[in-house]
Amino acid sequence: MKIQESIALVTGGASGLGEATVRNIVQNGGKAAILDLSEERGNRLVEELGGNAIFFKTNVTSEEDVQKAIDGTIARFGSINTVVNCAGIGNPEKTVSRGKAHGYESFKNVIEINLIGTFNVIRLAAEKLVENQPDVEGERGVIINTASVAAFDGQIGQAAYSASKGGVVGMTLPIARDLAKSGVRVVTIAPGLIETPLFGTLSDKARTALEAQVPFPSRLGRPSEYAQLAQSIIENVLLNGETIRLDGAIRMAPR
Ligand SMILES: NC(=O)c1ccc[n+]([C@@H]2O[C@H](COP(=O)([O-])OP(=O)(O)OC[C@H]3O[C@@H](n4cnc5c(N)ncnc54)[C@H](O)[C@@H]3O)[C@@H](O)[C@H]2O)c1
Repeated sequence: MKIQESIALVTGGASGLGEATVRNIVQNGGKAAILDLSEERGNRLVEELGGNAIFFKTNVTSEEDVQKAIDGTIARFGSINTVVNCAGIGNPEKTVSRGKAHGYESFKNVIEINLIGTFNVIRLAAEKLVENQPDVEGERGVIINTASVAAFDGQIGQAAYSASKGGVVGMTLPIARDLAKSGVRVVTIAPGLIETPLFGTLSDKARTALEAQVPFPSRLGRPSEYAQLAQSIIENVLLNGETIRLDGAIRMAPR
């Protein structure tokens, strides 16, 4: 699919990797719906990008919110053919810390947003994607998920986060297989260290230490590099059922 034909739902689209993806799609002639909790940032981005962007205040864990955003996007743009799942949280907590067990609710919360929220959006959007008219390749849509290198090399304090992202990696192939007969692809990106608002407050010392862990290029990644990979996935119909690391060859140490 050409990027200018993309009509995308982008969760977490008001910040960081999702925001960069929204900008790239709209600046290349596509259309994007921003599904995010942050009304202020979402509306500001729509104001900046104009009529080919729309914002829906959405919690990805809510069936009702996601359904409303999907229906609203179709009402505005006519259809949806792309989904980019970027909404996510990290909440570092050790299995036992100072003699106290990891919280049960805090573990569930990370899984609910990062893993179940991602699947909630996939299932409800896929119901619409499979109804699209196929293009010359027989393609009806593409779904891009965001895992993390923590799915493979989770650090101390990342039990919940790694489990959630490992779940996203694990469901990529079966969902691609489920949707293959409908011409809908599913690809996951596993980013390393990308400079988003998450890293905005780093001291120079902490930044240098993080950058030194990346073999090449030895720097934090740019959100635009994530958006560029998302564009390649949208455009390259042979990419399917796979997780792609975007990480400058980093393999995270235990801490
Ligand atoms: N930045 C990195 O280095 C990095 C590395 C690996 C993976 N990731 C993953 O990439 C994704 C995007 O991260 P980012 O760095 O852009 O973070 P970010 O905090 O800049 O953006 C995340 C966005 O998701 C939204 N969000 C959070 N919970 C939500 C919910 N329940 N419903 C709807 N929206 C919700 C937030 O409001 C925010 O706008 C996350 O899934 C994160 O785990 C990021």
